[in-house]
Amino acid sequence: MKIIVTGGAGFIGAYTAKKLMERGDEVVIIDNFNDYYDPKLKKSRVKNLLKKFSAKIYTTDIRNYKDLERIFKKEKADKILHLAAMAGVRYSLLNPLIYEEVNVGGTLNLLELSKKYKIEKFVYASSSSVYGGNKKIPFSETDSVDNPISPYAASKKASELFANVYSKTFDLKTIGLRFFTVYGPWGRPDMAYFKFTQKIFNGETIEVYNKGKMQRDFTYIDDIVSGTILVLDKETDSKIFNIGGDKPEQLMDFIALIEKYVGKKAKIKFLPMQPGEVKKTISDVSSLKSLGGKPGIGIGEGLKNFVDWYRDYFDKK
Ligand SMILES: NC(=O)c1ccc[n+]([C@@H]2O[C@H](COP(=O)([O-])OP(=O)(O)OC[C@H]3O[C@@H](n4cnc5c(N)ncnc54)[C@H](O)[C@@H]3O)[C@@H](O)[C@H]2O)c1
Repeated sequence: MKIIVTGGAGFIGAYTAKKLMERGDEVVIIDNFNDYYDPKLKKSRVKNLLKKFSAKIYTTDIRNYKDLERIFKKEKADKILHLAAMAGVRYSLLNPLIYEEVNVGGTLNLLELSKKYKIEKFVYASSSSVYGGNKKIPFSETDSVDNPISPYAASKKASELFANVYSKTFDLKTIGLRFFTVYGPWGRPDMAYFKFTQKIFNGETIEVYNKGKMQRDFTYIDDIVSGTILVLDKETDSKIFNIGGDKPEQLMDFIALIEKYVGKKAKIKFLPMQPGEVKKTISDVSSLKSLGGKPGIGIGEGLKNFVDWYRDYFDKK
């Protein structure tokens, strides 16, 4: 199989590309290596995770339809795994316009080209943030998601709507993946677990919202990769899948484990709830399980792997 992976220099993209190539698929990466977070980390990630393979990498922006069309024409891919996006919730409150351009406009470019070049399957990243402040727990794919509370969440919901149009009206098979708080080695420095680790190592104060009374369905990167590949492989209708850890954790327990692995107590400043943040994200993963998926890695093992990687990468003794 030949698969175009957009956002292939990103956290989830690089790991998924690696796994696909390990089993013999051909991978073509599209990424613009932007500086939303340090592009050096993106380059090292690609260098380290993909060193044994010959992934073709196009440094291109998914907002550029003409560039994308040249790649589609040349590569003749079977499937698309679309992960490129502006991904932070908080940054979207300050810079909403780019979220519409990349996450909605870029996705639409890719859907249109996938229709035109008769792509077999279009699998794309959505997010648990589309559930917004929904009170019904756990979040199920059939729940209403009409109340996003950040531009990021709205952009993901909009991309789901466009994907739905392409499957219903243009017969393109589209599968959306609502990922729940993904963590692991080579992760994203803008995410809370990464910042907590960095600050605990450096003896700096971490900011914890809502007195730490938050629950997250933390999902280890390997579970995200196996769920994503399962969906790429299996015959399914056009639909949406939650991919979550299947075991909601209290934020303070998560922090306690980071302290344990770093070997230092955190200095904590408790702050009120922030706009755009949600108190609980808990996934119902029964759809993914019915396809054969089984999330497995708990935060004990997952955070140890992350902190070990962090210590090594940033040379913290
Ligand atoms: N990590 C999570 O917890 C999480 C949770 C829910 C959903 N998601 C979604 O999963 C996907 C992957 O997330 P990630 O954590 O790997 O993020 P990431 O930021 O590490 O990866 C995204 C990649 O997309 C690239 N990109 C961004 N804008 C681009 C553009 N205009 N053109 C080309 N490339 C562009 C970036 O350079 C980056 O390498 C995203 O769609 C994100 O919204 C992630």
